[in-house]
Amino acid sequence: MKKFLVVIQLYVSITGVAVFRYNNCILYQRNYTYLMMQKANLYNCPLLKNKLDDWQFSQSRLVCLPLDIEKQNYVRRNVKDAIFSVVLPTPLTTELKLVSCSEDALINILDMSPSIAETSEFVEFIAGNKLLSSSIPLAHRYGGHQFGYWAMQLGDGRAILLGEYINSAGERWELQLKGSGRTPYSRDADGRAVLRSSVREFLCSEAMYYLGIPTSRAAALIVSRDPVLRDQFYNGYTITERAAVVLRLAQSWFRFGSLEILTRNKEFDSLKKLVDFIITEHYPEIGAEDEDRYVQLFRTVAHKTMDLAVDWMRVGFTHGVLNTDNMSILAVTIDYGPFGFVEAYNSNFIPNTSDREGRYSYSKQLEIAIWNLQKLSEAMFPLLSESQISSVMSIMKYMEMYSKSKYRLAFLAKLGLKQEINFTTDDLLIMQLLQMMEQTEADFTMTFRELGDIPLESLKNVETLRKHGWSLPKLASHRNYVEFIEMYQKRLEQEKGTDDERRKLMSSVNPRYVLRNWMAQSAIEKAEKDDFSEVRFLLEVFKTPYTLNEEAEKRGYADPSPDWASNIRVSCSS
Ligand SMILES: *[C@@H]1O[C@H](CO)[C@@H](O)[C@H](O)[C@H]1NC(C)=O
Ligand SMILES: *[C@@H]1O[C@H](CO)[C@@H](O)[C@H](O)[C@H]1NC(C)=O
Ligand SMILES: *[C@@H]1O[C@H](CO)[C@@H](O)[C@H](O)[C@H]1NC(C)=O
Repeated sequence: MKKFLVVIQLYVSITGVAVFRYNNCILYQRNYTYLMMQKANLYNCPLLKNKLDDWQFSQSRLVCLPLDIEKQNYVRRNVKDAIFSVVLPTPLTTELKLVSCSEDALINILDMSPSIAETSEFVEFIAGNKLLSSSIPLAHRYGGHQFGYWAMQLGDGRAILLGEYINSAGERWELQLKGSGRTPYSRDADGRAVLRSSVREFLCSEAMYYLGIPTSRAAALIVSRDPVLRDQFYNGYTITERAAVVLRLAQSWFRFGSLEILTRNKEFDSLKKLVDFIITEHYPEIGAEDEDRYVQLFRTVAHKTMDLAVDWMRVGFTHGVLNTDNMSILAVTIDYGPFGFVEAYNSNFIPNTSDREGRYSYSKQLEIAIWNLQKLSEAMFPLLSESQISSVMSIMKYMEMYSKSKYRLAFLAKLGLKQEINFTTDDLLIMQLLQMMEQTEADFTMTFRELGDIPLESLKNVETLRKHGWSLPKLASHRNYVEFIEMYQKRLEQEKGTDDERRKLMSSVNPRYVLRNWMAQSAIEKAEKDDFSEVRFLLEVFKTPYTLNEEAEKRGYADPSPDWASNIRVSCSS
C-alpha cells in the first residue's frame, strides 16, 4: 500500500492535482484507504455523488424479460407469462428518519458519498416517496417449495426492485426496497416491514459481508410512524408497529424459485430467456452460445451454493427458512428472517420456533441445500437433453462428497489446521470437539475463538484455563477434553504446523463478534424510541468481527448472553 501511495504522489507531482484527486477516489473506493485520509476531503470526491439528483439508475436490462401485461396493482394469485410486474412503491405518509446506512455499500457499490444519506431526498427515495425518472420499479414473480412442498406462486410480496446500477468498477447491482407496500404478489399481507425485522436484516446482511460470506447487502434503513399491525407470535394478539424500509442490494435477486414457477407453468420460452439472461449477465465465463451452458450453469450454482452453506456452518449461522425461493441463483445469502447464530452449541438449533420438525435446523443446512439444488435441477430439465440430464444428476450425486470435503476444510481451519490428512481421523477430531461442545453447552463462537487465543501447551492445563474466557472452561470440564487436546496437538504436528500459525489462522476465521439475538434485541428496543446509536454502533463492530474491539468488549458483545436473552422469542411475523 505504502509503495502504491508513493507512486501516486510521484505521479501527482508530474501530472497535477486533478489526477491525484481522481486516483484518490479510485483508491478510496477500491481499497478502503479512507481510513488513512481526511474524511471531509473525501466526501467531496468527484466520483462520489453528494446529491441524489446527480445520481441515476443505469439502463434497465431486466425489463427485456417478459413483463406482466396487467398494469393495475392488485393482488393476483395466478399471474401468467411474466417474470416481472411493473409496480410503484406505496409512499409512507408520516415523519421519516434514517436509522442507519452502510458507508461501505454507499461508497463502494453505489458511488454515493455517505453524506447523501443525510439528505431528505435520499430518505424520501428509500421511503418510496421519491421516484427517480431513471427508475422502472418491478416486482418479481417467482414460486418455490416451502417446507418441502410446492407452494405455487409466491413473488416479491413487499419488495420492489427500483432499478439497476452499473458502478464505477463496472459491477451491475440491483436496488431493492423491502417493505415498500403491496404488489400483485402480496397475497394476504400489507407489503410492509416493521422496524424490528428490518434492523435484523440490515445488521445481519452487513455483518455477513464483513465475515466474508456472500450475501445481499443493506445500504440504508429508514423508519416512519406509519402504523402496521402485526400478530407477533401468531397468538391472535396484534400490536401496532412502525413501518420501516431497507434499501437492499444484490447483483441479482433471482432465486431457484424464479425458474421453478416457469417450469411448473410450462412457460418454457420465458424459462429459456431467463436462464440465458442469468448466464449472460452473471456467469459470462460460461459461453452464451455454448451447447452445454445450462449444465455448466447448474454445476457452478451447485458448487457455489454448497460453498455458501459451508460458510454458514463455519460461523454458526442458521438461515431458518431455506425454502427454494430463499435460495439465490448467485448463491449469496438472501432473505434474512428468523435467522440465528448458534450460541450454546446445539446441532439441532432451530431459530424459527414454529419450525417444530427442525427441517431448517443448523446442522441440516448442507442436506437442505442439496435438496433445494435438486429442485433447481428439476426446474432446468425442460432445457436439457437426455444426456445433459444425466450430467446434471451426476453433479447432484457429487455434491454430498463435495460439501463434506468443504466442511472438513472449513472446520479444520477453525482449528488452525491447513490441510486434510486423513478423512477418517480428521472428521473424528472435528466430531469429537462438536460433541464435547454440545454436551457441555459451550458457546459455538467463543469456544473456537478461545481455543485460538491460548497456546496449545497451556490448553492442556485445565486448571489455568479457568482464568481464560468463559466458554473454554465449559469445554474443559468434559471428561474427554485432555484426550482431545492431545489428539489435536498430534494432528498439528502431523502437518508440521507451528502453534503461532495455528493461532494466527484461527483468529482470521473464527469471529469474536456475531449478531446474537440479545444484541439485535437491545438495539431494536432503543431504535423503537428513536435512539439509533446502538444499531450504528453494532454496524461499526461488525466491520471487523475478527478483531478485538475495546468498546465492544466493554459492552459485553463477547460475553455470555445476559439472562434476559433466554426469554427472547424471535418473532416470525415481519
Ligand atoms: C422465505 O420463503 C418464504 C416462502 O417460501 C417466505 O414466506 C419468507 O418470507 C421468505 N423469507 C424469510 C426470511 O423467511
Ligand atoms: C416457521 O415455521 C413454520 C412451521 O413450519 C412456518 O409455517 C413459518 O412460515 C416459518 N416462518 C417463516 C418466517 O418462514
Ligand atoms: C486414516 O487413519 C485410520 C485410523 O488411524 C487408518 O486406519 C487409515 O488407514 C488411515 N487412512 C489413510 C488413508 O491413511
